[in-house]
Amino acid sequence: MSNAAADIAQQKRLAGEAAVRYVEDDAIVGVGTGSTVAYFIDALAAHKHRIQGAVSSSEQSSAQLQRHGIPVLDLNAVGKLALYVDGADECDPHRRLIKGGGAALTREKIVAEASEKFVCIIDASKRVDILGKFPLPIEVVPMARSLVGREIARRGGQPVWRDGVVTDNGNWIIDVHGWQITDPLTLERELNQIPGVVSVGLFARRPADVVLIGDQLMS
Ligand code: 5RP
Repeated sequence: MSNAAADIAQQKRLAGEAAVRYVEDDAIVGVGTGSTVAYFIDALAAHKHRIQGAVSSSEQSSAQLQRHGIPVLDLNAVGKLALYVDGADECDPHRRLIKGGGAALTREKIVAEASEKFVCIIDASKRVDILGKFPLPIEVVPMARSLVGREIARRGGQPVWRDGVVTDNGNWIIDVHGWQITDPLTLERELNQIPGVVSVGLFARRPADVVLIGDQLMS
C-alpha cells in the first residue's frame, strides 16, 4: 500500500472509532455502508452490550453487524433513531454530501431521514468546496434507465450505467459525470421528480449534522 493510501485508511479508522463517542446507552444505532463504516462497526462491537442493536442500510453492513453479534433491527419496528453514522464520497462546507459509491444510497437516505443526528465519517480526500467531481449516483428502476439517462443529458450531465451492479432493492445505478453542483438542494429536488428515479445520492435536503474528518470535527 502507498503512503497516501495508508494515510487515508488510517483517517477512516480514526473517524470510525471517533464516531463511537456519539453512541448513547440503550441506543438503536443507524449504520451506513462502506469501508469507513466498516471501521465504525468494528469499534461498535466493543460497545454492543450497552446498545439495543442497529438498523442497517445494506446487506453488507448487516452481515458485518451480525458477525459481531449486534442485533440488526427492522426500521419499521423501531421508529425514530437517535443516531446515524455513515461515510460519504464527497462533503461540502455546508455538510451536504454525495453518497452512493457503494450503491446503498436509497437505504442510507431512509435511515438518515429517520435519525435525529447524522454523524458523517470521512477522510480528508472527501472534503470539497463544490460537489460533483465524484460522479453522482442515482438509483433507477431498471426499465427507466434510458429515460432517466436522457433527462440527465438534457441537463448537461453525462450518465454512465454502472453495468453489472444491482442494488439491494433490485434496481440499477446511473453515475452522472460532468456536473458542478452549485445548488445541490434544487438539483436533488428536480432529479427526484423524474419518473423511474428511486433516489439521488445528493444529501442536501438532509445533510449531515456532524462531520468527522479522521478524529477531528469539521468546522
Ligand atoms: C455507500 C456510500 C459510502 O458511504 C461512500 O461510498 C463512502 O465509502 P467509503 O467509506 O468506502 O469511502 O455512500 O453507498
